[in-house]
Amino acid sequence: MKILGIETSCDETAAAVVEDSNRILSNIVASQIDIHARYGGIVPEVASRQHLLTIIPVINKAMIEAKATWQDVAGIAVTFGPGLAGSLLVGVNVAKAIALAKQLPLAGINHLEAHIYANWLASLLPSSSNGEGRVRFPCLCLIVSGGHSDLVLMKNHGQFEILGRTRDDAAGEAFDKAARILGLGYPGGPAIEEAAKSGTPCLSLPRAWLSGSHDFSFSGLKTALWHYAQRGEILTTAASIADAAASFQCAVVDVLVTKTIEAARELGVRQILLSGGVAANKLLTERFLNSSPVPVFVPPPHLCTDNAAMVAVCGYYHFRAGTISGHDLDVVSNLGLG
Ligand code: KG4
Ligand code: ZN
Repeated sequence: MKILGIETSCDETAAAVVEDSNRILSNIVASQIDIHARYGGIVPEVASRQHLLTIIPVINKAMIEAKATWQDVAGIAVTFGPGLAGSLLVGVNVAKAIALAKQLPLAGINHLEAHIYANWLASLLPSSSNGEGRVRFPCLCLIVSGGHSDLVLMKNHGQFEILGRTRDDAAGEAFDKAARILGLGYPGGPAIEEAAKSGTPCLSLPRAWLSGSHDFSFSGLKTALWHYAQRGEILTTAASIADAAASFQCAVVDVLVTKTIEAARELGVRQILLSGGVAANKLLTERFLNSSPVPVFVPPPHLCTDNAAMVAVCGYYHFRAGTISGHDLDVVSNLGLG
C-alpha cells in the first residue's frame, strides 16, 4: 500500500511516498530556514505564502522520485494540526483537492502523532536503535520539538495518554531562544550543538526537576542564561560562548533524560521512542542510549525534524484501522494528543 504524505504545519513544505509501514520511496523537504533566518524566527504569513509556491513542485518531485503513478497511491495523509493555521491550510486544501480529483481516501494526521511514527520508519534502520528490533507496546514517547515537549504513554496504535508537557517553553523553543541570547542564529538547536562541540559545560545553570510531576519547564534556564549574558560574563570570546552553549545543552539534556527514564521505570514500559527536532541532538541521544534500562529508538536526524514520510506512515496505520477523514476536514492549530 503506497501512501502520499503531505506536511506544511510550520516552515517545511514536505511530501513523501511511503510503502506500507516502513519503506520510504521518496521524502522531499523544501526548507524555508534561509527565508526566516533573517528575521530570527518564523514569520507565519511568509511561511504560508512560501508553502503555496512550493507545495505542487514538492508533491510532483515526491511522486517522480517514488516512480509512483496516481493509480499506485492508496490514500493521502496530511497534517491538520497542531501548527500555524495559515500553513496547515495550504497542505490540507491541496490534499483535499487531490483526494477529490483522484477519488482517494484522505486521513487527517496529528503532527505530534506523526513525529512518534517516524520511529516505525526508523525501526528497520540499523543506526536507529540499540538493536532490539521493532517497536513494542506499551512504550514511552518523548516528543521534543519547537512547539512541544510532551511525555506520552503509547499503549497501542492510536492510543495515547499524555503524562507530562512543558509548562512554559518547549525544548526546541528554549534552544532557539538561547541561541538568540548567544548570537548564534536560527534555528538555535543545531547552532548550539555546533558551538557546544568546542566548549565545556562549566556554567552553573538551573534544572527544573518539578518532582512529583512529569511536566517540564525550560524558561528559568533560559532566563538564567540571559542574566549571565546581561552581566557580561559571556559573549566576550568565542570560547566563553562555546562554554555557555555546552552548559545550556547539558542542562536541557539532563532534565529530558532523567525525567523520561524515571517515568519509564515507574510505568514499566518496554521501550522509549524519541522524536521531534530536538531528538536530532547527539548528546541527547547518546545520553539516552547509555543510561536507559529499556531499548531506546531514535529516528535518524532527517526523520526527527519535520518531514512527510512520518505523516505517510502514520496515515498507513490510520487507513489500516479504517480511520478516514471527510472532505470537510479543517485545520486545528492547537490540536493535542490523547
Ligand atoms: O520537529 P521540528 O522540526 O519542528 C516542530 O515541529 O517544531 O523541531 C524544530 C526544533 C527547533 O526548535 C530546532 O532548534 C530544534 O528542533 N532542533 C534541535 C536540533 N535540530 C533541531 N535542537 C537541538 N539539537 C539539534 N541538533
Ligand atoms: Zn514537528
